[in-house]
Amino acid sequence: MSIQLQTLLANIPLYAGLTDAYGATHLPVYNTATYDLKRQQDTEKTYDYSRSDNPTRNALEKVFALAEEGASCTCVNSGLAAIKLLIEAATRANDTILVEKNCYGGTFRMLKIALEQFNIQTLYVDFTQEDAVEAHLKNHDVRLVWCESPTNPNLKIIDLVRIAALCRQYDALLAVDNSMATFASQQPLLAGADFSIFSSTKFISGHGSVTAGAVVSKTPEWGERIAYLSNAYGLAQSPFDCYLVSLGLPTLIQRMKAQEQSALQLARYLEQQDWVETVLFPGLPSHPQYDLATAQLRIIPSIISVTLREAGMVSGIVRNLRLFGQKVSFGCADSRIELPADMSHASLSEAELNAHGLSRRLIRLSVGLEDSRDLIRDFENAVKLCAICEVC
Ligand SMILES: Cc1ncc(COP(=O)(O)O)c(C=O)c1O
Repeated sequence: MSIQLQTLLANIPLYAGLTDAYGATHLPVYNTATYDLKRQQDTEKTYDYSRSDNPTRNALEKVFALAEEGASCTCVNSGLAAIKLLIEAATRANDTILVEKNCYGGTFRMLKIALEQFNIQTLYVDFTQEDAVEAHLKNHDVRLVWCESPTNPNLKIIDLVRIAALCRQYDALLAVDNSMATFASQQPLLAGADFSIFSSTKFISGHGSVTAGAVVSKTPEWGERIAYLSNAYGLAQSPFDCYLVSLGLPTLIQRMKAQEQSALQLARYLEQQDWVETVLFPGLPSHPQYDLATAQLRIIPSIISVTLREAGMVSGIVRNLRLFGQKVSFGCADSRIELPADMSHASLSEAELNAHGLSRRLIRLSVGLEDSRDLIRDFENAVKLCAICEVC
């Protein structure tokens, strides 16, 4: 079921400016640290300090809670802050977390710190092997199960309904990192997850000028605990950053659909090139989980993972592409090329890279809003330059 994002935004009074005395037509930014309690007699809600609550942030939180079909949302200053907040809320020292082994490098690094500081054990499993997930849930006292879908950067699709059912059976909480798909494409809570967390730095804002994140909870009780901890740790997203994120929302679905189409064209082209070993894009019929991807995702996020035949060609392709900046992050209006082993997953050792299936010949493309014909031409030129260049 697709979400009516424009209607949803129009129905949140402050987001649409409706409660603004001057008739503003977009979310006002309340850049204030404190509030005069004596002047708040007639307001719907009282505020005292912006670390704990702020009207601009509350409006964005309402959008996210509704869009993710959750009870409550807390907005924080980055996707990693959202991950940290959830791990703090859901686990205690000596707990065990079961994690899909292809996860964002920053999550992996955070889980290493959780082990060092609080003896929180992490078990890494391939969640496409549901028997292995069940065996781990049966044999360990797992408190929290964690996955992305699609995973970054191997673009595996995790069957969220099946994993959520296993979590319920073994009394474990399920958190899904929805940064890549976003609520424009899937709602993990509807599949049975307890939490959907995401980085708003990527598709959700889409303009690449802000880092932000959010935790959405299925129940109000979890929402209260998470908001309490966000205030206690001082993780709240600033009102101005909430406003920056809000600018991307009215165009989110249309951007993602246009980017999906360009990515599909580029992926089809790349699949036919003899210098390419494999192309992973969940919208290609050759993707190992194409059927699940198209059933679970309304829009395929415009990320393509390409393994080149020769390691020596990687730096040449990166250098010769003109339209793809060598940048981390994804989901922005501009196309990007990223080398996971050297960039987003650089905190993994060589052995960890191997264990998590991250080859040094892997490049991750985030396709932006450029014309797909220009992007294909850019690759054709880059490869031609590689053929005559003697630098690599
Ligand atoms: C899947 C995923 N989750 C979370 C994050 C962290 O988000 P942020 O960079 O906003 O902290 C990233 C960052 O790349 C990511 O790829």
